[in-house]
Amino acid sequence: MGDQGTVWLPEAASTVAGDVDALFYFILWVSTILFIGVIGTMVLFAWRFRRRSSQDRPQPVRENKLIEASWIVVPTLLVAIVFVWGFRVFLELGIAPPNSYEIDVRARKWSWLFEYSSGAQSSELHVPVHRPVKLRMISEDVIHSFFVPAFRVKADVFAGRYSYVWFEATRQDTFVVACAEYCGMAHSQMLTRVVVHSQDDFENWLANNAADADMTPAERGERLYSQQGCFACHSLDGIELTGPSFQGLAGSTRMFTDGTSAEADANYLRQAIVNPAAEIVQGYEALMPGTYSSLSAADLDALVAFIEAQ
Ligand code: CUA
Repeated sequence: MGDQGTVWLPEAASTVAGDVDALFYFILWVSTILFIGVIGTMVLFAWRFRRRSSQDRPQPVRENKLIEASWIVVPTLLVAIVFVWGFRVFLELGIAPPNSYEIDVRARKWSWLFEYSSGAQSSELHVPVHRPVKLRMISEDVIHSFFVPAFRVKADVFAGRYSYVWFEATRQDTFVVACAEYCGMAHSQMLTRVVVHSQDDFENWLANNAADADMTPAERGERLYSQQGCFACHSLDGIELTGPSFQGLAGSTRMFTDGTSAEADANYLRQAIVNPAAEIVQGYEALMPGTYSSLSAADLDALVAFIEAQ
């Protein structure tokens, strides 16, 4: 194990990599020992109890309670250990720390675009070392899969729904980012790099690149808010118009007319823009047009960022 790759696994450079690798090696060695034990016993018995003459007949076999109990109890215990251990690592991989630095990811045939809250954009992912980074990912066309082997993170990227991965890089270096879902002709070339900077270098990189960006996503969202006429129905100051105010909307609990409820996370906000009739909040009517589904993925990300900032 360690930082360098092995015959089994690539180099490890994130906080979760050690846990993923330990579980992998546990399963690998348990499987190896069981395989050798079962196949070895089978070969030994085939030789030891081979038919020696034409008069040879099988002897009756008497049960052995100890052996029978052990081949029930031991595999059950092993499966339970792998389940509990695997579930803990699954949760660790699935739940980003609340102080994570968030970056938007847009996948399309056949490249990646990374957008930072400062407005900077890049085709290579830039992140700070020793800081949790959470990616909010969406596809502009088919399903892709964001995969950084060295970080042991992989997640599908869909059109129409945000998915997330998080990681914390443990050293400054560059690592391969690959697409791990077959997405058409140039799928195998849908590669880029993740560049892990020191915290200072990362701030510098952001500052240098933000100079090129004319607006942050939230600022672009604010422009769309007026361009698309959202203001006619959605206030920013809590005043109730035809639709809910955007003030404090993100993160709040929404009660729907069908009696269900949901937290207004990024996926909810996006859905409420592209398919407003899907869930109607109590106290409102289904008046919002469905025309906003034609907004680009970038515009929708910007609107979500703008609503989240209110
Ligand atoms: Cu994108 Cu494969």
